[in-house]
Amino acid sequence: MKGVILAGGLATRLRPLTWVTNKHLLPIYNKPMVYYPLEALAKAGIKEVLISSSPDHSGQFASLLQSGDKFGLKLYYSVQTNPKGGIANAIALAEEFARGEKIAVVLGDNIFNFDLKSAVDKFNKKEKGAMIFGIRMPAMESRHYGVIEIDKAGKVLSIEEKPEHPKSNIAQTGIYLYDSRVFEFIKRQKPSARGELEVTDLNNFYLSEGSLECGLIDWWIDAGTSHDELLRANNLVADKVKSGQL
Ligand code: DAU
Repeated sequence: MKGVILAGGLATRLRPLTWVTNKHLLPIYNKPMVYYPLEALAKAGIKEVLISSSPDHSGQFASLLQSGDKFGLKLYYSVQTNPKGGIANAIALAEEFARGEKIAVVLGDNIFNFDLKSAVDKFNKKEKGAMIFGIRMPAMESRHYGVIEIDKAGKVLSIEEKPEHPKSNIAQTGIYLYDSRVFEFIKRQKPSARGELEVTDLNNFYLSEGSLECGLIDWWIDAGTSHDELLRANNLVADKVKSGQL
């Protein structure tokens, strides 16, 4: 399995911090944000990772992360020319890099700590399908994210992108495992009302054929949604690092 980190987008919610600096290069405690998903993929046993960013920033990622040696990884870089294409559009750019292998996609502003390695190992044994990861949130908070509805047995019933009336308090995190058909599914996608190819619509392809699995995790933060969440991520990560949990 290969890894893909999405570090593009416009990050309008974090302006003025992001007028010049790419969101994923902002500091989270003692490291640039992108280090966290990168180290998580390395820890999961993934050896090759594509970092996908915008034309203005791709060179900065290459200067910072270089060949990937210091992470025990082989890094590749790609440029997203359409900053409003959406997450699935950005995933599509990884087709050549994937070369028919499964991929683990992580959004570059997601920080988490769970046993991704076991999930990857299990997923690698599966013939086909996709896996998403959800986290329980305080009531109504989930509506800021993709919302996953599951039954008592953990089977996914629905996923909706930022619904006004969430069907559950489980938010969809930005960690996704896909089989090699993911690129075919993206080619069939239509832009959403906001003109993007949504990751939730992509995951719904797998849901509709009955091959979508959902794992629940208990520590995760999307550091990119607001200045407050960025600050909260800094404080939480500092605590976790100091207590040896991250
Ligand atoms: O973080 C989890 C959430 O991420 C999920 O719950 C949602 O279902 C999913 O749509 C996404 O929502 P966000 O509103 O957080 O997406 P955002 O536009 O902030 O983009 C997330 C990351 O993906 C960010 O690190 C930048 C990267 N990205 C995004 C877009 C739209 C790209 O690299 N290229 C893009 O075109």
